[in-house]
Amino acid sequence: MRLAQIFVVAVTAALLATPADARPARPADAPAYSTTVPGTVLVNADRRTGESLSGPWHYSVDPYKDGMADFHGKPLDVTHGRGSDVNVEAAMKADPDVFFEYDLARAPVGPVPSAWIAYSPELRYYNGLMWYQKSFDTALIKSGQRVFLRFAAADYKTMVYLNGHRVGEHEGGFTPFSFDVTRLLREKNNNLVVAVDSTRTPDSVPTQVTDWETYGGLIRDVTLVATPETYVDDDFIRLTTDGLIKADVALDGPAKAGQVVEVSVPALKLSLKGTTDADGHVSLSTRAPKDLKRWSPDTPTLYEVSVKAGADVLTDRIGFRTIEVKGTQIILNGEPIFLRGICLHEEEFGPNPSRRITPEASRALLSEIKTGLHGNYVRLSHYPHSEITTRMADEMGLLVWSEVPVYWAVKFDNPDTLKVAQSMMAENILRDRNRASVIIWSVANETPISDARNSFLTALAREAKALDGTRLVSAALLTGKKTVDGHIDITIDDPLIPELDVMAVNTYNGWYGNDKIADVPATVWHSSFNKPLILSEFGAETLYGVRDPVREARFTEDYQAKYYKNTLAMADRIPFLAGLSPWILKDFRSPRRQNIWQQGWNRKGVVSENGERKMAFFVLSDYYAKMAAKK
Ligand code: GCU
Repeated sequence: MRLAQIFVVAVTAALLATPADARPARPADAPAYSTTVPGTVLVNADRRTGESLSGPWHYSVDPYKDGMADFHGKPLDVTHGRGSDVNVEAAMKADPDVFFEYDLARAPVGPVPSAWIAYSPELRYYNGLMWYQKSFDTALIKSGQRVFLRFAAADYKTMVYLNGHRVGEHEGGFTPFSFDVTRLLREKNNNLVVAVDSTRTPDSVPTQVTDWETYGGLIRDVTLVATPETYVDDDFIRLTTDGLIKADVALDGPAKAGQVVEVSVPALKLSLKGTTDADGHVSLSTRAPKDLKRWSPDTPTLYEVSVKAGADVLTDRIGFRTIEVKGTQIILNGEPIFLRGICLHEEEFGPNPSRRITPEASRALLSEIKTGLHGNYVRLSHYPHSEITTRMADEMGLLVWSEVPVYWAVKFDNPDTLKVAQSMMAENILRDRNRASVIIWSVANETPISDARNSFLTALAREAKALDGTRLVSAALLTGKKTVDGHIDITIDDPLIPELDVMAVNTYNGWYGNDKIADVPATVWHSSFNKPLILSEFGAETLYGVRDPVREARFTEDYQAKYYKNTLAMADRIPFLAGLSPWILKDFRSPRRQNIWQQGWNRKGVVSENGERKMAFFVLSDYYAKMAAKK
């Protein structure tokens, strides 16, 4: 049955794709990185010369993964199949009798970036394999220039083919990955085929059941990124708590060793110079100038920074600030700070979101937190959000909690699952460790305690520390509770806490479980750890506009508002509390939520999916406004 595929002859990709041997920039005092760090970082790729491949793409569903295995299940060489470099239309013109089973270049068209669930009604609940195809010309082929094909994110497993060659693959739905395609590109009519499989499995991260919609597909920008042959693959530039500006730079390319590197901040008349070692690495540092304006939510000062090395010049906008913990306080730029926040899923406002995050969509969401709620902090849950959002938080002045989707019952005893989680963590940190707004790396959410879980998360927490010793590490934990003298009594005692800088607990008393909302304010919290606590989640559901002022029944705005009042009253009495991020800013899609009020949405938002503010929104914004005024 597969004869047709014989007419395609392909050269194995391995010969052509340039193997990446860069290693991320590693501070001299940092422990060795695990092997899960990506080969190519391509830091600040969004600020490099390039060509966008976003826009209309062909797409073709493949529910039986027919493009991957033949009718007896024997794995197929995709470069002889859907990944081949055949223009079927031209072939048919040449030979009307030619046989073919599919032609992606004439398949339906949908926008990228976007999840495919918005492409057509029948794809609303489709999870599985999808083939994408795009033909394009490029002007980036120049001698002495390399070209990378970069995906800002694709959910979940991605396989890439260019001009009939297998380029590579990636696992993980929310972090960037790139391939050097310099030797595969041609000027005209490039044939790019991308297979994206959104299937969640028991071993994937996250696993099959989550309380959010799986937005499968090419959900973020696809670009061609050009660099000189030897280029700045990674840099890590920051202010340290001992008053130094440090810069670690890693070059990749034939001339990476013995290269002079200059990191400069013109506005501070600052220039740091050094020469790379055999690995293409250099670590630079200098005392921070007295007139440095530190970045903070109230003063989100960003400096133009450039890194020059040989023919390469890479710029960025970086804020300089320090973050640390002292006892039960979180300290920003040497001063205690209370995190006035809320949680957020990556889902734009509107009745039919497709995880299409543009600067406008991101600004709309973050403004509702900054100006609407008088917040200074956002928990980006439960996976790395777009770099558009973390850059927006830098610009607007919002502190960020960034998380990898180790969510609920991940397969903690599977070493491959750990590897996937570690590489997600590494990709996330290497993408955003120059973002001043990001202060906390979270390794997990609501995971069941076990030995396997503890060692899995300990490995992740240590990986985060190795990759970035300048930020705080945390995880959203669960606690037990008991009734003591008639009040709810909670002790925070998760065995993971010694590995964390900040404790964070999700608490839903008064919503889940049988505690009465009236009992919440008197709740007593205990912790033997001299560490700050964030209430990383609390919330109650209501559909916008559903009211019951008399009985304050559940699923009404009145109940939700009262729930907030009572929980905030409880928060006021926790002596080691350093921050709040209620669940959640906006109602969001969740296939688990199907009752009469929910209809496929989790309704714990303080605003509706269309941005309508519920009563609880004003309870929280008043509370934060008073707190901000007291400062
Ligand atoms: C959990 C979980 C969220 C979920 C929320 C809820 O705590 O972390 O992902 O949506 O509770 O039940 O609404």
